[in-house]
Amino acid sequence: MPDKETIRELIMRAMGMMKMSYIPYSHFSVGAALLTDSGEIYTGCNIENAAYTPSVCAERTAFFKAVSEGHTSFKAIAVTGGMNRKAEDFCTPCGVCRQVMNEFCDPETFLVISALSPDSYRVFTLKELLPYGFGPDNLKN
Ligand code: THU
Repeated sequence: MPDKETIRELIMRAMGMMKMSYIPYSHFSVGAALLTDSGEIYTGCNIENAAYTPSVCAERTAFFKAVSEGHTSFKAIAVTGGMNRKAEDFCTPCGVCRQVMNEFCDPETFLVISALSPDSYRVFTLKELLPYGFGPDNLKN
């Protein structure tokens, strides 16, 4: 488990990213802050599209930014979300984002921190959110 200060920092960075969400359709903004094994933080926001399906969630934005810069091991991600840029839901990652996490993270140890504020958050393991997931180990022979 990251220390209290790191959790606080992740939540603040996630909340800050809600300002960057491109959300003309749902008006629901999500921010994410992803902690690498080596201690860097990569952030993300959701980015919607007029054709709907090309939209991407905040969590995947953060993962793809980090992976594209060479990081493939992660400790935790903070997620904040709500209508009209206010973090007022305990927002948990969608199924597609859970699957992306499962590609890079150990489900037993990777933590998803769903937050309303730096003082109000819930912590889940990826395994709790994605039990019996299909992952890289399934393709080993
Ligand atoms: N969304 C995220 O970015 N992350 C989540 O965990 C849930 C949903 C986005 C997708 C879409 O832009 C908006 O929130 C409403 O579904």
